[in-house]
Amino acid sequence: MDKELLDALNIQLNREFHSAYFYLAMAAYFERENLKGFAKWMRAQAKEEADHAMKFFDFINERNETVVLKPIEVPKQTWSSPLEVFKDAYEHEQKVSHYIHRLYELAQEKRDYPTQVFLHWFITEQVEEEDQTLQIVELLEKAGDNFAAILELDEQLGSRE
Ligand SMILES: [Fe+2]
Ligand SMILES: [Fe+2]
Repeated sequence: MDKELLDALNIQLNREFHSAYFYLAMAAYFERENLKGFAKWMRAQAKEEADHAMKFFDFINERNETVVLKPIEVPKQTWSSPLEVFKDAYEHEQKVSHYIHRLYELAQEKRDYPTQVFLHWFITEQVEEEDQTLQIVELLEKAGDNFAAILELDEQLGSRE
């Protein structure tokens, strides 16, 4: 595999673990706020991100290339409201989509077809991730300072498996 593309795949593997860390920090925030439903949702999200990282791990190995694990960036860990948390999550997912798209362009440039096919799943996944987080941002904006509405949303998000 092209060296530049391999490096980029290893960097994305690391970014997915950073995403897991970021959502785990958000889960901890919601635990502190006693919003158990939001916390559960964030915990599930963190797990998904770790799964994403493992997809890169498996793909690099399948291509008989070398996985290089790098230090995971420390995420932000305090927020002032659930809305601020989900605004960050949405912004984060937009950033990740951008990285996935750049990675796809690099795979095209290097004419690496298996990597292009591998990335299709992530391109679709990112559409879902952005949509999901934006939806919650909008619901929290509508809830405003109404704590009953926030609690209702907490219960709703807590039903995530
Ligand atoms: Fe991800
Ligand atoms: Fe994500």
